Amino acid sequence: MTNDDRKFTTTDAGIPVASDEFSLTVGPDGPILLHDHYLIEQMANFNREMIPDRQPHAKGSGAFGYFEVTQDVSAYTKAAVFQPGTKTDVLARFSTVAGESGSPDTWRDVRGFALKFYTTEGNYDMVGNNTPVFFVRDPMKFQHFIHSQKRRADSGLRDHDMQWDFWTLSPETAHQVTILMSDRGVPKSYRHMNGYTSHTYMWVNAKGERFWVKYHFKTDQGIEYLTQEEADRIAGQDADYHRRDLFNAVKRGDYPSWTLKVQIMPFKEAETYRFNPFDLTKVWPHADYPLHEVGRLTLNRNPDDFHTEIEQAAFEPNNLVPGIGPSPDKMLLARLVSYADAHRARLGPNYKQIPVNRPKSPVHSYSKGGAMRIDNVSDPVYAPNSKGGPKADAERYPETAVWSADGKFIRAAYTKRKDDDDFGQPGTLVRKVMDDAQRDRLVANVVGHLKNGVSEPVLTRAFEYWRNIDKEIGDRIAKGVKGD
Ligand code: NDP
Ligand code: HEM
Repeated sequence: MTNDDRKFTTTDAGIPVASDEFSLTVGPDGPILLHDHYLIEQMANFNREMIPDRQPHAKGSGAFGYFEVTQDVSAYTKAAVFQPGTKTDVLARFSTVAGESGSPDTWRDVRGFALKFYTTEGNYDMVGNNTPVFFVRDPMKFQHFIHSQKRRADSGLRDHDMQWDFWTLSPETAHQVTILMSDRGVPKSYRHMNGYTSHTYMWVNAKGERFWVKYHFKTDQGIEYLTQEEADRIAGQDADYHRRDLFNAVKRGDYPSWTLKVQIMPFKEAETYRFNPFDLTKVWPHADYPLHEVGRLTLNRNPDDFHTEIEQAAFEPNNLVPGIGPSPDKMLLARLVSYADAHRARLGPNYKQIPVNRPKSPVHSYSKGGAMRIDNVSDPVYAPNSKGGPKADAERYPETAVWSADGKFIRAAYTKRKDDDDFGQPGTLVRKVMDDAQRDRLVANVVGHLKNGVSEPVLTRAFEYWRNIDKEIGDRIAKGVKGD
């Protein structure tokens, strides 16, 4: 564009303005006039540019792309998005959990892996992480867990003592903490990590048959990590290291992709499986439930405006489409309520009309009014009606993603299965999956973390916690911290 082609500046109302540089004053040296509404518009808009951060997962990066189905899984789900040959537009947002929106990308943390599929049957959101499990299994503990990872009330500082206090008093955290302290706790980039639903979901096929599924988005770039030393150095040099990497990769046409594979459990098997298949702190061993390929996710377009397209993106696990439903995982059931509430608070009740959140399929709802409503509403505004308004089609869209439950109202842990214990699976990870070099880095990462502000009695509990996962690893950690 040459300077001659440039557009002329206007106010937000489209009115041409006389100057980009000078406010309206009484003579060149006199006071500013209150009726310089253009100056006031600029100051007022500036003061309102920031919106609240997401509570967790505030620092993130995103890109657009598509998901294409490569294998036929129609025997397991009728969801349009997973039918053979289907290609669907997708928005992805990757994030850290505990840091604020300006915090370093390379802090050791779990990474969010959130996807919005703009399907022909409405938006389908898969809001997962780069780990197959989570720290807690009951939503009552989620808020406490996040508080322990964020900042103290008095100093406003993050505090490893508080983190290990919570973890060691909550043995169900052992599996996720082992993964967090391993190489997976600092991926080399967002392109070099997997994504998992972590939760079990339900799939329903065209015949109404139900299956339990777990998703694994395997990175086609390969798993790569940063050592603690590399991560610490980069945190000081470039807080936006992962954001820059993703943006530049997409910009230069090096489009990252992930292959979606799923584990599928027949509906009835959940009743007798040796692990509770809905416990978010457990995986289903691959030997019991192998991976089936579904398709490929590719990211090929950067946002034009980070604020409108990524900061205002609203992912919600309750956005499930016909053929995909929840499971009895208590964490998931709580998440089906929490996210939409967070969006109403952060973005306002009509957040689904922000273009990035808007479905690409028609919307025929009875919602009306509210702050910042943009779409016109037409009569009739109630149902049932005899005036031609939308009508639910129970025959075409029956409530199929359901299960039965019976019992007294109670506050209790899940009923234990044969192999359910908090330390078994992390022990397998340490002993059978990791090699010597990975175990060495795990020990070094934990020792470094514990030496940074953790005091008694938390320290002794931390050694016991690791001995419960693996006696030898626990002993090595205790020795490394105490220095004997
Ligand atoms: P497998 O040997 O079949 O699977 C082990 C898996 O571990 C690998 O496929 C890889 O998953 C993953 N992995 C490797 N290093 C790490 C790490 N540092 N942190 C987290 N995951 C890692 O054995 P099982 O299926 O019997 O599982 C054994 C243990 O492996 C589990 O107890 C669990 O801790 C871990 N694991 C299992 C997964 C599952 O769904 N079965 C998924 C991820 C971890 P990937 O290919 O997905 O990167
Ligand atoms: C973000 C709540 C567990 C993945 C959030 C947000 C809330 C929240 C309130 C901020 C939403 C926003 O403002 O946009 C909860 C609750 C949980 C829970 C109550 C448990 C009871 C989990 C689990 C996972 C997860 C288990 C992964 C498997 C994410 C991701 C984001 C997020 C990826 C960021 C989404 C984005 O990129 O905008 N969570 N969460 N959360 N959560 Fe959770």
